Amino acid sequence: MLVSAKEMLTKAKEGHYAVGQFNINNLEWTKAVLQTAEELKSPVILGVSEGAAKYMCGYTTVANMVKAMINELGITVPVALHLDHGTYEACYKCIDAGFSSIMFDGSHYPIAENVAKTQELVKVCAEKGMSLEAEVGSIGGEEDGVVGMGECADPNECKMVADLGVTMLAAGIGNIHGKYPENWPGLSFETLEAISEKVGKMPLVLHGGTGIPADMIKKAISLGVSKINVNTECQLAFAAATRAYVEAGKDLQGKGFDPRKLLAPGVDAIKATVKEKMELFGSVGKA
Ligand code: 13P
Repeated sequence: MLVSAKEMLTKAKEGHYAVGQFNINNLEWTKAVLQTAEELKSPVILGVSEGAAKYMCGYTTVANMVKAMINELGITVPVALHLDHGTYEACYKCIDAGFSSIMFDGSHYPIAENVAKTQELVKVCAEKGMSLEAEVGSIGGEEDGVVGMGECADPNECKMVADLGVTMLAAGIGNIHGKYPENWPGLSFETLEAISEKVGKMPLVLHGGTGIPADMIKKAISLGVSKINVNTECQLAFAAATRAYVEAGKDLQGKGFDPRKLLAPGVDAIKATVKEKMELFGSVGKA
């Protein structure tokens, strides 16, 4: 069922768990995430960055593939198809292409411009029954060409953006896209607590889910995080499993070169990663 992320995140916030956003890159990725969500009866959000959409032949191709797959695989759990870190222009392209959710990343604009553009998109998404994620502060590191300095969000600015009527809010709290460096000081729970107090029921989004220790994930959920984004960890798991298959020479044995065989260990590794995260986030059985 392709739905907006609103209901699943409202339930998650009330139920003190989080829904995972898993970024997709191709057919195998999408199928692996959808099948795992169905198996575990978990709601799920499929994240699509602008770069990944381009790679997959555009937003319409992605939306049509996801809708068809939901039907063909008999997926009954709620699935949101979400633009990740979208520019203003990409948001409109996804609205037209049939996505059910978008993130407008206006964090690099001055706050007044971020607010104005977000406000406009709140209206459009409400008319279309879509969910909208906004960002305040910035997520450190690099995500498919989107670079952030990693500054913590200002709780007052968070309240200003939350009050516009967005569905969920991504706030920088020291989180970073990609692998965390050895000297990473950890999430700023002080900032998260202050933001939570200001925004009340608004579901908060934790980007950079790869590599955050389980205890920090649990604490973040207890302080109001209801959506956690994971991308790099699935890529690392896929790459390691594929490497092991090739290094063991399995592609050279019999018909081991068949893409259905060659990619199978990687797909299984994505599934295992998604399962582990859904269990940690507490979304299993919540569909
Ligand atoms: P990671 O790649 O660090 O898991 O971050 C994913 C993300 O936040 C997508 O927006």
